[in-house]
Amino acid sequence: MHAVGIVAAAGSGSRLGAELPKALVPLAGRPLVAWAVDALLDGGVAEVVVAVPAAERAAVAALLPERVLLVEGGPTRTASVRAALEAVPAAATAVLVHDAARPLTPPAVVARVLAALAAGAPAVVPVLPVADTTVAVDDDGVIRETLPRDVLRRVQTPQGFDRAVLVDAYARLAEGAELTDDAAVVRAAGIAVGTVVGDDRAAKITVPQDLALAELLVSGR
Ligand code: CTP
Ligand code: MG
Repeated sequence: MHAVGIVAAAGSGSRLGAELPKALVPLAGRPLVAWAVDALLDGGVAEVVVAVPAAERAAVAALLPERVLLVEGGPTRTASVRAALEAVPAAATAVLVHDAARPLTPPAVVARVLAALAAGAPAVVPVLPVADTTVAVDDDGVIRETLPRDVLRRVQTPQGFDRAVLVDAYARLAEGAELTDDAAVVRAAGIAVGTVVGDDRAAKITVPQDLALAELLVSGR
């Protein structure tokens, strides 16, 4: 198996509200995208392709190892991953798609995804159980029902795929379609998506408090 990683790093980070695009925001002095690339490489991925904001291409290139390939992202995460997928080297037999916004993902999570692919899974994602009571509400906020928590999972990245399965699923996806993750893209093509155990440290940095928590995690290890 020859696994190539894709890092989706072309978002603006509007909810984080920093002056820089989110992938360039520092965590313990290093940009989030550099942490995310390292997590993939440390976990066993052979090469990495990063989708970056068009205006930041040179800035990101200066921050990452020379062997990392850069492509210009698109207006949505789906478009950014689609662009990166086209640049994945021909030798790849598996592709792992990861968010730059998950900088502290332990390499062990990457390794679990790779192991599931090596065992024959066409698609696999890291997941965690839902700890809080979880409810569905009406438009006015009144609880409609309590959801059965035992079947619910929170989905993380990196999400791993057989390369041909992922390429075929993106080829079938309508131009301009926007899905929240890559598991949804392959599921839309009828592929079953398996799960492995995720990790709380792979949490996504979305709002300023998430970044503050990540700084605490780094300083405590
Ligand atoms: N992403 C991307 N291309 C886009 C939008 C998002 O590559 N056009 C990436 C982000 O860089 C991030 C990941 O997808 O690593 C998850 O997206 P999200 O957390 O929503 O990041 P942003 O879109 O940057 O943040 P926001 O939605 O707050 O603007
Ligand atoms: Mg976004």
